[in-house]
Amino acid sequence: MINNMDLSRSGAWSALVSHRQKIDNLHMRELFHEDATRFEQFSISSGELMLDYSKNRITAHTMELLLELARCAGVEKMRGEMFNGERINVTENRSVLHTALRRPPGYALEIDGLDVSREIADVLQQMKLCCERVISGKWKGYTGQTMTDIVNIGIGGSDLGPCMVTEALRPFAHGGLQVHFVSNIDGTHISETVKKLNPETTLFIIASKTFTTQETLTNAMSAREWFLTYAHLESHIAKHFIAVSTNRAKVVEFGIDEANMFRFWDWVGGRYSLWSSIGLSIALYLGFDRFQELLDGAYAMDQHFLNEPLERNIPVLLAVLGIWYNNFFDVSSHAVIPYDQYMHRFSAYLQQLDMESNGKRVNRQGYAVEYATGPVIWGEPGTNSQHAFFQLLHQGPDFIPADFIVPLKSQNPIGEHHDILLANCFAQTEALMKGKEEHEVRQELEAAGCDPSELSKLLPHKVFPGNRPTNTILLNELNPFTLGSLIAMYEHKVFVQGIIWEVNSFDQWGVELGKQLAKTIFPEIQGDVRVTTHDGSTNALINAYRDYRLKGTTSASPQLSFFDDI
Ligand code: F6P
Repeated sequence: MINNMDLSRSGAWSALVSHRQKIDNLHMRELFHEDATRFEQFSISSGELMLDYSKNRITAHTMELLLELARCAGVEKMRGEMFNGERINVTENRSVLHTALRRPPGYALEIDGLDVSREIADVLQQMKLCCERVISGKWKGYTGQTMTDIVNIGIGGSDLGPCMVTEALRPFAHGGLQVHFVSNIDGTHISETVKKLNPETTLFIIASKTFTTQETLTNAMSAREWFLTYAHLESHIAKHFIAVSTNRAKVVEFGIDEANMFRFWDWVGGRYSLWSSIGLSIALYLGFDRFQELLDGAYAMDQHFLNEPLERNIPVLLAVLGIWYNNFFDVSSHAVIPYDQYMHRFSAYLQQLDMESNGKRVNRQGYAVEYATGPVIWGEPGTNSQHAFFQLLHQGPDFIPADFIVPLKSQNPIGEHHDILLANCFAQTEALMKGKEEHEVRQELEAAGCDPSELSKLLPHKVFPGNRPTNTILLNELNPFTLGSLIAMYEHKVFVQGIIWEVNSFDQWGVELGKQLAKTIFPEIQGDVRVTTHDGSTNALINAYRDYRLKGTTSASPQLSFFDDI
């Protein structure tokens, strides 16, 4: 079905199409040269975060047109609806209220007969008490020992957010507990994790919104078996297993004591859930007060997003810039480069946030959209990435916009490391913007005494086109508050883009088909008959593994070797 009303047929969209043609030959180098105030015009601060978006292929008019598109799409109205708990997740008939999780208590909002503010405050209190007990050592294991290790078992939103945050905020950990994350169904993940652990001092958090996710439940079951190999009695499980879920019945069915369950609600999407009890591993690792600071930082960004006009609104600006390249330059990739080693999981986290939210081919009414709905998000910290894929960013045939995230303060200020790190970061965005023209390369080679025939051979290889857009996001320091703001900033960016693209950013039906098919294939792999019911390729792959299994294992249920490793 085609939607004749979609935004790509609007005047605002057409105006951008023709504007794009007009500015095609404009080089950012010239724009900076012509306007000494370009940085002031295209940068903005909020709290401890500053966005410099001056190194983009934009003029003031570009921004006016992009913001007009956002207005036409109803961003301001939809923003209010999200915060007010309207059921904007239309395919699941749910509210979208991760913002309520970081709002100070005491407001009035009722969803499905529940007082949201009270519900959230109750769970936060439960988390706080749990943190106090575990961190203080009052929580004892089955042999009377205090906990030393937390293992969060979850996947997707029940893993990526907490894992990224605990890594990013490692310097803020209280140090009394180590935290581990097991997500992959590959047995390596749980095996390698428990190898290092003592069951007497390990607390498992089984984190799953639905409590039906195959990977999480299988890993949880293996963790349970590993634990019982040492603890023997099922009654000891209550001291070592906690569940975080919306699904009480399934938690109980799994055998976890209701008293050890932390609830959350269906109006919290998985990839938006680190602010809920899914963040328990964060709170245990950092201490509850630090977790509260993370929430406060996100709340500060929520207020900015809710109250600032579109032209001074950081998530909105980032969203429309992304749309500028994705839809009007046909750019299908966006890099995120944190200049902070602690943020090494940030791009992985953003991949789910962005691509699971907006990777949709139909709009909210079910009509096929006729435009791209988001780039591939990827990245690695600088400076490592400079020595890996930056060649493509600088001299590949297509440009790839990038966000550079830069804390000004180092958590490990040794020698000149931080000055060198930041010098590299600023040099990269300058190089991507300016490039190096032919005459500059020629001069350089001549000055180096290069002979003319060698020079003409080398010349094209050494030219950099430049005009490659970047945003730089400066933070005073990477701490719980600023990280909270940064994550919320990206959440709202993704939201605004989803509104402009008219997709439902809060469902994820696209992950279902593979899950269903895996459920068919799993018994076939274990069955007695050669598989013929799929396409030729899938049959052959399944049968190759069946053959390997038949020849390669000595027992139908091979011993789990990690049981012996303590
Ligand atoms: O991969 C799909 C997905 O549903 C994600 O959206 C979600 O974050 C993840 O699986 C885990 O789901 P759950 O928390 O219900 O185990």
